[in-house]
Amino acid sequence: MLDNIAALRQAIEADLATINDLDSAEAFRLKHLVKKGSLNALTQEFKAVPREEKAAVGKALNELKNWVTESFDAAMQAFKREADDAQTVDVTLPGRRPYIGAQHPTNAMIREITRIFSALGFDAAEGPEIEDEKHNFDDLNFPPNHPARDMQDTFFVKDENRNLVLRTHTSPVQIRLMQSRKPPIRCIVPGRVYRNEATDATHLAEFHQVEGLYVDRKVSMADLKGTLYTFFSELFQDPSLKFRLRPSFFPFTEPSAEVDVFVDDARGARWIELAGCGMVHPNVLRNCDIDPEEYSGFAFGFGIERLIMPRRKITDIRMLYENDIRVLHQLT
Ligand code: DAH
Repeated sequence: MLDNIAALRQAIEADLATINDLDSAEAFRLKHLVKKGSLNALTQEFKAVPREEKAAVGKALNELKNWVTESFDAAMQAFKREADDAQTVDVTLPGRRPYIGAQHPTNAMIREITRIFSALGFDAAEGPEIEDEKHNFDDLNFPPNHPARDMQDTFFVKDENRNLVLRTHTSPVQIRLMQSRKPPIRCIVPGRVYRNEATDATHLAEFHQVEGLYVDRKVSMADLKGTLYTFFSELFQDPSLKFRLRPSFFPFTEPSAEVDVFVDDARGARWIELAGCGMVHPNVLRNCDIDPEEYSGFAFGFGIERLIMPRRKITDIRMLYENDIRVLHQLT
C-alpha cells in the first residue's frame, strides 16, 4: 500500500506539471480529485490494510491528500497569474477622445445675429410660442378672412375659452413689445415658429425667425434700409454687398418690401430673398395705443435656417433638427 501511495504521488507530480490553462486543470481534477478519481480509489483500498499497518498507511495517505490539494491550488494560482500578466495595456494604442460639445448651428446663428444687432442698439426679447389669434393675426392688421389664417398654414390649439394657435411668425411679439414698452423701442426677437407645411428638404413644420422692430419719432424707410444693409454686410462679411428692397405686401406694414441679397457662389450668381420688411402700419400702432401722428416705426422678419444652410453648406433643412451626432460633429 505504501508503494502504491508513492507511485500515485509520482504520477500526480507529472500531471501537475502539465497544468497551464483551464482545460488542463479541469482534466487533472477529473482524473485525480473527483469521487471516481485516483485518490478516492486508493482510499478505498485502505479498508483492506492489516490493522498493524493502518497507522502508518493512514498517515501517508493523509499527507498525499494534503499535498495534492495544496499543489493543485498552487498550480492554479500560477497559471492564473500568467494569464493576467498577458493582459497588459498596450500603451501604443490610440486613445479614445472624449467628444467636446459645441453650439448647435441654429443657436450659433441666433447669437451672431443678436451680437450684430446689439452693436446697432437693439436688445433681444422673446414671446410665447402658443399665441392667441389676436396677437398672431388681428392686432397685426390681418383681415378676418385672410388666407394665412387657413387651417392649411396654421396649427390651431384646442382651447375652450380662447382661440389659440402655434405662432406662425415672430411678428406677434411686435404687438407685445409695443403694448408693454414706450417708444423708443429698438428690439429683435429670435424664436421658433410653426406652419402646417408638408416636410421636405427646404420646408419644415417648425423653423426659426428673427423679428426686428424700431419705433420712435421720425423713423424712416431710409433708417430701415441702412439698418438692414449694415446687418447683412456684417453677417456676410462683405462691405460692398449687393442688396435691394423690392416692393411687396404684408398686412402689418405700409409700405412693405422684400430684401434681396446678391450672391455668387458654387451654385451661380443670383439674387436670393432673405427678409420681409416695411414701415409699421398705422393700424398696428393704433392697436398698441401708439399715436401714428407722433411715432413711426420699421419692422422686419427673416428665416434663420435660410441663412444657416448656405453658410454651413447644408442642403436638407431636416439635418438641423434630427440631431444626428454624425452630422452635428461635422457642423461644429
Ligand atoms: N412675418 C412675416 C412672415 O412670417 C415676415 C415679416 C415681413 C416680418 C415683414 C416683418 C415684416 O416684421 O415687416 O413671413
